[in-house]
Amino acid sequence: MIRSVLLGTGSALPKACVSNEELAKRVDTSDEWIRERTGITQRYIAAEGETTGSLGAAAAQAALDDAGLTIADIDLIVLATATPDNTFPATATQVQMRLGGKGFPAFDVGAVCSGFLYALTTADAMLRSGMAKRAIVIGAETFSRILDWDDRTTCVLFGDGAGAFVIEAQDVAEDGAGIIASRLHADGEHGEMLYVDGGPSTTGEVGKLRMKGREVFRHAVANLSSVLKEVLEQAGHEPADIDWVVPHQANFRILDATARKLGLPMEKVVVTVDQHANTSAASVPLAYDVARKDGRIKKGDLVMLEAMGGGFTWGASLLRA
Ligand code: ACO
Repeated sequence: MIRSVLLGTGSALPKACVSNEELAKRVDTSDEWIRERTGITQRYIAAEGETTGSLGAAAAQAALDDAGLTIADIDLIVLATATPDNTFPATATQVQMRLGGKGFPAFDVGAVCSGFLYALTTADAMLRSGMAKRAIVIGAETFSRILDWDDRTTCVLFGDGAGAFVIEAQDVAEDGAGIIASRLHADGEHGEMLYVDGGPSTTGEVGKLRMKGREVFRHAVANLSSVLKEVLEQAGHEPADIDWVVPHQANFRILDATARKLGLPMEKVVVTVDQHANTSAASVPLAYDVARKDGRIKKGDLVMLEAMGGGFTWGASLLRA
């Protein structure tokens, strides 16, 4: 069967790392509050000149290097972001140009924190249908640019960064490598729980992030545990078969509560929210890259990716590394 097989991963972070203590000098908060409620200890914040496009391109180049490929081997780029460099052109086209590519399709996908799952599932479908052979799938964000730095209930939670996968269509055996099953969902009824209060067609301004944190928390745990069950059922696997879960890194307590609901030990959950905070669409490929490069995720492991974000949107994808 034709599956999209992961050939390489990469990630990129801004140079500046901001600890909770440093943040507490600018915002009415404390290291203790942030750690206890979220597990976050630090985040990376983009400086002038560092953008979603520059971080996305650096992550994509690292993924190409990891796969032992060049841009000439690629015929599709799908980039997930809610913080594009400009309203248009799509940031994916600018990443293509930065990498030295031309001609093949490159486009952005917007599903906020679940954007990478949406982008990966779209690229996977295009690869399996024969529309492309090798894709770079990127999650890249600079949420620091849409935060209200006077709102302590949101600004302490997010960071900037990018992660990327290189995937290739391969004819594999049923127990072989590649993306096995994916499910995506959306429910616009809850749009006002997590949104940006501006945009080109409404205010003409970029706007700032607004969130009802408690409600988001409740929905996140319920939606994530249900989509994980759906994907496992579709793939004919049990929670116990999973070697690693690479979740969207929103909050340690969401990761913990979701794992508990599925009866999965936290030792199987990749946690990077402490180091990166919530990097939205970048968080899943960033966390995957960290866990693969430090030796946790090995070839042949069964890995579940999952995310939930504004919209609401949510999804999960099961792959064999
Ligand atoms: N520092 C200090 N105190 C704070 C801060 C802060 N940064 N933020 C809020 N507080 C105070 C509040 O003012 C409130 O004070 P009060 O009791 O005197 O009124 C108190 O802390 C409790 O506030 P709550 O909002 O009720 O705190 P809660 O325990 O719900 O935690 C949090 C807030 C961390 C946002 C939590 O609701 C959460 O994690 N929600 C999930 C949201 C999320 O992760 N979103 C990411 C995007 S969506 C996704 O990726 C899944």
